[in-house]
Amino acid sequence: MAILRYACVALSLTAGCLADMLSARLIEELARVQMKPGEVLPMVAEARKLDKSQWTATADSFQSGNPPSAAIDGSTSTFWHSQYNPNLPLPHNITIDMQQVMNINGLVLTPRQDGTSNGNIGQHTVQVSTDNKVWTTVSYGTFLDDSEVKTVPFVTTPARWLRILAATEAGNRGTWTSIADIGVTTGTLTTGSPAAIGSWGPTVEFPITLVSGAVIGSTGQLLTWSSFLPNQFTGSSTGQTFTSTYDPSTKLVTQYVISNTGHDMFCTGLSLDNQGGPIVTGGNSAPDTSRYNGGSKTWALQANMNIARGYQAHVTLSDGRVFTVGGSWSGGQGGKNGEVYDPVANKWTLLPGCPVAPMLTADAGGVYRADNHGWLFAWKNNYVFQAGPSVAMNWYGISGTGSQASAGSRTGDTDAMCGDAVMYDAVAGNILAVGGSSSYSNVPATTNAHIITIGTPPTAAKVTTVASMQYARAFANGVVLPNGQVFIVGGQSTPVPFSDDTAQFTPELWDPTTQKFTAMAPQAAARVYHSIALLMPDATVFSGGGGLCGNCATNHRDGQFFSPPYLFTSSGARATRPVISAISATTVKVGTSFSVTTGSAATQFSIIRYASTTHTVNTDQRRIPLTPTAISGTKYTLTLPSDPGVVVPGQYMVFAMNSNGVPSVAKTILVTN
Ligand SMILES: *[C@@H]1O[C@H](CO)[C@@H](O)[C@H](O)[C@H]1NC(C)=O
Repeated sequence: MAILRYACVALSLTAGCLADMLSARLIEELARVQMKPGEVLPMVAEARKLDKSQWTATADSFQSGNPPSAAIDGSTSTFWHSQYNPNLPLPHNITIDMQQVMNINGLVLTPRQDGTSNGNIGQHTVQVSTDNKVWTTVSYGTFLDDSEVKTVPFVTTPARWLRILAATEAGNRGTWTSIADIGVTTGTLTTGSPAAIGSWGPTVEFPITLVSGAVIGSTGQLLTWSSFLPNQFTGSSTGQTFTSTYDPSTKLVTQYVISNTGHDMFCTGLSLDNQGGPIVTGGNSAPDTSRYNGGSKTWALQANMNIARGYQAHVTLSDGRVFTVGGSWSGGQGGKNGEVYDPVANKWTLLPGCPVAPMLTADAGGVYRADNHGWLFAWKNNYVFQAGPSVAMNWYGISGTGSQASAGSRTGDTDAMCGDAVMYDAVAGNILAVGGSSSYSNVPATTNAHIITIGTPPTAAKVTTVASMQYARAFANGVVLPNGQVFIVGGQSTPVPFSDDTAQFTPELWDPTTQKFTAMAPQAAARVYHSIALLMPDATVFSGGGGLCGNCATNHRDGQFFSPPYLFTSSGARATRPVISAISATTVKVGTSFSVTTGSAATQFSIIRYASTTHTVNTDQRRIPLTPTAISGTKYTLTLPSDPGVVVPGQYMVFAMNSNGVPSVAKTILVTN
């Protein structure tokens, strides 16, 4: 069972409740960002500045005394309510005419504030129009069933009309819809062709602040979670986890609470096992291990770690075991040496030969921060390569009682806490390392970029300094694309947890051929501390979340899908995508071949491991470029590398690309050894 250590009430934290969990520094950081009485979210303040006196509203129905105009009268004590006497079925809708076209980039929706929840909106779609005929969806998803103001940032879009389509009542109490107030924010249009800078899709609303995420190969779903509460991790943890899934095939966002494990899966280690299910370690429930079964969609509690941890990274090895090191954020500080988990025996074993000391950063926050978020890569011969965030790099050998050897220094870099390390070409042993900062917070992040090349362990890694990013960032996420480009998204130029100041809205795309970064279209929301980004099987990138600070201004319960330039023609239209019409096997052993048949000629192939991420760490993703070993028409024989240290067993997305570089939607294979 999880050990429930939080004997303190949320945000009225006393010295006694700190126990060995939260440092005084974090408490200070959290206290500083709590909203004062009367203070409102920045988007709310902005929306209030807009004159709504000429606006009109119509709805599919209303109850006498609760007309649609009550949702735009600037008062949150009046509200629109769909007719309930007699009751009408869902869905319901309300349309606002703002009387003039404006470039709007956000919706501020206040649920009824009279202490009753009837009519709170759950599943919904937000659409806008300039002519009341052609409508564009700017946002959709599911709101949390509470009375808090819902702020929905989206791509700046010209609009005169705005409508909200409510599909469900958030608490399933009835078939009603109610809204106390609707406001909008305005912004500037993005210029530039999607062929050059890509394009962001509608904002997807989640009922939780996204902090951790994984893409599950068996379902194609994005699985995300926060902590024991939807928007907060401090307080008396009840050993449960608020979870939300997004299904790309239905575009539905669902919510549920995992309570059977007793594991509050906040600030955990995270990786996908050799079947594609997340393994989660430590965090708020510091000794715990949980495993998700993608087939049954259930979580199960596993054996405790020997050393309680939070903020450690862990990585799935070529033999299916899981290695972890570090993690002084919870479960006590210091001495967080390595251990390994055997999921078959369900047993953790200490590795005295894998000390944490060589991978510590020189963080101003001391060991509490110095052993956080290791950049761990499973590699050949049961070695793990630790690429950072310390400027010192190490090999950890996971055989016997473990071993450690220096792998050299990331020459030209500093300690790069909360930077990103992305294995964009595992066949060549190439990792791109970017950004981060010398201490966890309150120091400038860097623009640094390096290629780290690893070979046979334990020989030292080769480090090449490449052209820097255009923007300094820590707390960003890095995602490898099917063509080997690396998308760097979000982050702050000066990392400060729970603040959106100095957020970098403009992502960058690194090209492995030119070894340069190109600025991409700006995203709608700040994606900083606790934000996540993951490659989807349709070759878009999900970027979302950030925050989780309770009554603060920086909880981000949303995300957006980015379509990289490769999904567009030079004129900016959607490119025609190659289609994988057949694949010869769904399970492929390392070193063996399978074939992919495409509808039209393909010129490039790669497989990318399905991935999970939290706190900038993603130890799963790795791209394996594959050159066909035989071609017959549009049937291509692909042969996997024979070393499971290179093609680490688990679920992979298989992509085919055409001569224009346009990727297919992926098929999924399970790689075994
Ligand atoms: C809004 O509701 C009305 C009445 O039910 C319906 O006729 C209309 O189609 C709805 N609009 C949309 C866009 O769903």
